[in-house]
Amino acid sequence: MPNILITGGTGQVGMALSRMDWPKGNYLYVPGSDELDLSDEIAILDYLEASAPFGAIINCAAYTAVDKAESEPDLATAINADAPFHLACYAADNDIPFVHVSTDYVFDGTKDAPYTEEDPTGPLGAYGASKLAGEEAVIRSGAKAVIVRTAWVLSPQGQNFIKTMLKLGRERDEIGVVADQIGCPTSAADIAETLQAIALRLLAHKKAPTGIYHFVNGGETSWHGLAEYVFARAARAGLKTPKLNAITTADYPTEAKRPANSRLNTAKIGHDFAIQPRKWQEAVDDILDILIKERP
Ligand SMILES: NC(=O)c1ccc[n+]([C@@H]2O[C@H](COP(=O)([O-])OP(=O)(O)OC[C@H]3O[C@@H](n4cnc5c(N)ncnc54)[C@H](OP(=O)(O)O)[C@@H]3O)[C@@H](O)[C@H]2O)c1
Repeated sequence: MPNILITGGTGQVGMALSRMDWPKGNYLYVPGSDELDLSDEIAILDYLEASAPFGAIINCAAYTAVDKAESEPDLATAINADAPFHLACYAADNDIPFVHVSTDYVFDGTKDAPYTEEDPTGPLGAYGASKLAGEEAVIRSGAKAVIVRTAWVLSPQGQNFIKTMLKLGRERDEIGVVADQIGCPTSAADIAETLQAIALRLLAHKKAPTGIYHFVNGGETSWHGLAEYVFARAARAGLKTPKLNAITTADYPTEAKRPANSRLNTAKIGHDFAIQPRKWQEAVDDILDILIKERP
């Protein structure tokens, strides 16, 4: 009966994963960053040595502050590349599955179609570079590993675009949202289901597929399109909504450059793991159901 280590349990994906129903006999260990600080190599090695043996590791923790990473590249690299390497080496040494989460930001966004797993990478900033280094480190470890790249993660918890829009909608009469970056809004709960399905498959079948896979919800939109969808739904629920203007990336300068095209092709995960993502609108509806109900 495996002990499963889940990192990042206070984050959007890790929280959704640790709150899921797991088949009987799987024991979850979800240490917080106070118990397992992934920026500290010695702390990671000590934690792994002191713990009961793990039968699988799912790494949902990451340094996710995209703009701040530009001024803290070493910390981003420690958490996003060095830590996954140590965890994956433990997995390799103990011949256990390792499931890791990565990002669309490994791409430069210039492709005119959704990215496949075979497309060349080319991160635009320190965060994307650290996540790419993490993918390479996991592969280098030799672990039986699946790396799931996802994008535009949304959930009722934590910091994300939907929550920011609902807040701005309450506070402002007019807002501008970038309309020239396109991607696939993706529910943390759906990513969690995917990670669980992959981990259970790897635990059950020694010859289960490994490697890099893309998972995002179906369809595509821009940040402006997503904001429009959120405000239409908020307005129907009787909430105050702002006038929404479409702006360009150039109108909204940030520390880190972001890919204009964040779309990910999910055919490979459909073929190898029979995972078929639902449409982003359905996923966003579920999140809005919770967030709009929670409003006083
Ligand atoms: N958010 C997105 O839009 C997005 C897009 C594409 C890919 N991804 C990837 O998806 C995965 C999950 O993202 P998310 O949105 O769930 O992230 P999140 O909500 O920002 O959560 C990050 C998690 O990592 C933990 N963490 C950070 N530094 C740590 C440290 N030094 N030691 C231990 N734990 C640490 C945090 O713990 P504390 O709360 O204690 O800091 C938190 O639990 C990540 O691999 C991310 O790169 C995210």
